[in-house]
Amino acid sequence: MSKAIYPGSFDPVTKGHLDIIKRASKILDHVTVAVLENPRKVATFDIEQRVEMLHLVTKDYSNVEVDYYKGLLIDYAQNKNISIIVKGLRAMSDFEFEFQMALVNQKLNSSIETMFMMTNNKYSYLSSSIVKEIAALGGDISSLVPPEVYNMIVEKYK
Ligand code: PNS
Repeated sequence: MSKAIYPGSFDPVTKGHLDIIKRASKILDHVTVAVLENPRKVATFDIEQRVEMLHLVTKDYSNVEVDYYKGLLIDYAQNKNISIIVKGLRAMSDFEFEFQMALVNQKLNSSIETMFMMTNNKYSYLSSSIVKEIAALGGDISSLVPPEVYNMIVEKYK
């Protein structure tokens, strides 16, 4: 059985994330979408809110589970018997850092593979930071985030 983890900050989840979740869930038996801490970023939404948003947008995917973890990605994967890490790549600029993380994770546990999925072209410009910037300045984010989480994000910036 192919068990994968799609980790991220999801601060907040975007249509780009959801596209990767949808596509990964079609080719893998089980996908855990896990909110993990990115020590390089200060989160806007707390973990509970990020998990709630992910639950809302993945409710129709029977082989997708949502979870969170405060620790090393590789430890979580190992404890849950997950052997695949799924990452989305939007541009060459993502690649360098993701490559480094994949190599570090490989060093920590060589039996867990990182697999990259190319973004859907229509979301290649999209990021959680862009969504937050537009929302904070009163712009329209309706085409950037799943409808189920639109209000939660807009409310945050009222
Ligand atoms: O959505 P992001 O912020 O690009 O996700 C990055 C994330 C959360 C997947 C990454 O920071 C991570 O794996 N954090 C958990 C801590 C960890 O395992 N660090 C070592 C990997 S180099």
